[in-house]
Amino acid sequence: MGIEGNDWVLMKTARAPSNIAVIKYWGKRDENLILPINSSISVTLDYLFATTTVAVSPSFTSDRLWLNGKEVSMESKRYKNCLQQIRSRATDVVDEKTGLVVKKESWKDLYVHVASKNNFPTAAGLASSAAGFACLVYALAHLMGAKESYEGEFSTIARLGSGSACRSLYGGFVKWNMGKEDDGSDSIATQIVKKDHWKDLVIIIAVVSSRQKETSSTAGMQTSVKTSPLLQHRAQSVVPKRMVEMEEAIMKRDFATFAKLTCADSNQFHATCLDTSPPIFYMNDTSRRLIGLVEKWNASEGTPQAAYTFDAGPNAVLFAPDDKVARSLLQRILYLFPPASDADISRYVVGDQSIMELAGIKTIDDIEALPTPSEWSGIDIPRTKGELGYLICSRPGQGAIVLEDSAALLDDATGFPG
Ligand code: DP6
Repeated sequence: MGIEGNDWVLMKTARAPSNIAVIKYWGKRDENLILPINSSISVTLDYLFATTTVAVSPSFTSDRLWLNGKEVSMESKRYKNCLQQIRSRATDVVDEKTGLVVKKESWKDLYVHVASKNNFPTAAGLASSAAGFACLVYALAHLMGAKESYEGEFSTIARLGSGSACRSLYGGFVKWNMGKEDDGSDSIATQIVKKDHWKDLVIIIAVVSSRQKETSSTAGMQTSVKTSPLLQHRAQSVVPKRMVEMEEAIMKRDFATFAKLTCADSNQFHATCLDTSPPIFYMNDTSRRLIGLVEKWNASEGTPQAAYTFDAGPNAVLFAPDDKVARSLLQRILYLFPPASDADISRYVVGDQSIMELAGIKTIDDIEALPTPSEWSGIDIPRTKGELGYLICSRPGQGAIVLEDSAALLDDATGFPG
């Protein structure tokens, strides 16, 4: 098959994970290049990912994108920047199956079709743009034979899509170094350690149903940079020290320090939101009750059992150092936040089922029968059924990967969604 004919479609499918920051990125020093005012650290999540297929064909007449089955415009600067950066690094590509050759200089004349979907509801407000842009960049790079000229170069391209996306290319624990160059060439994400370094860590995501329309991260951080004196103090005087301490805690698997820093950093991020004018509120009453659950437990034990962090929304991401503590954490969450009486338990706790098994919970009756956690005994606590949407049990996950052709979201003959 030659490049002359119009009847060919070449495509690649990839998968990239979501990540949750434990030292938060909030605020840009360059809006176009998405350069942050401070460095950040994240944990890559298992079970939550975007799958993206990218295709080229001489028969395509424009760049097109389908997100979760619905066509959306690819006109935004963020998509264009990512696409242009990968196109400029494209090389000669030979399709192993058909022998088709796409020459380096041909890529700029070929339009792309992109189909992407998340395996978790976008409405749940879980960092879908991070997984999505990381996946787009990773899939495009593999399709077009783009190579990194230095380690982390692709992360600088994913960053142009969404800041937090640069951290979603890697598994385990990831650091995004803010960099100092004006062109962003040193604003790079790198892996601190692989997922297996701290494989016992359990991550429970409590999806808190939110009725309110939240302020987007992009808009929220713009206002914070303009108006919050606390944010300046945080970026200049607090985060640099925390970055060093957090990296060390991760290296040593020191959960007490990890937990202390994670909670403190989430709380300071939300404090900068309150310090913004007009103030931004991302957490709600349920979020604050989840904080109470962890704080009260930690205080009663005298040492951190669990940690929490919240992004630009009310959902909590909770950490436990191992299965045993995760079981106690899950029991506490289920005790304080039981599902609605008619809920399907297999849909109330999803993801890694091993913690539920360890907790011996199979039915709603098992939840009803949970004993009052000792730190809550004698206290009249509300146990509102159905206050939480659902829970996702996760672990540190792997970075972006290329998938088999059978996972493609576009038809291999037409390059359109099937
Ligand atoms: C609170 O990466 O979504 O999740 O760069 O404007 O696309 P843009 O913002 P985004 O912001 C993420 C903010 C955060 C903290 C974090 O992930 O570090």
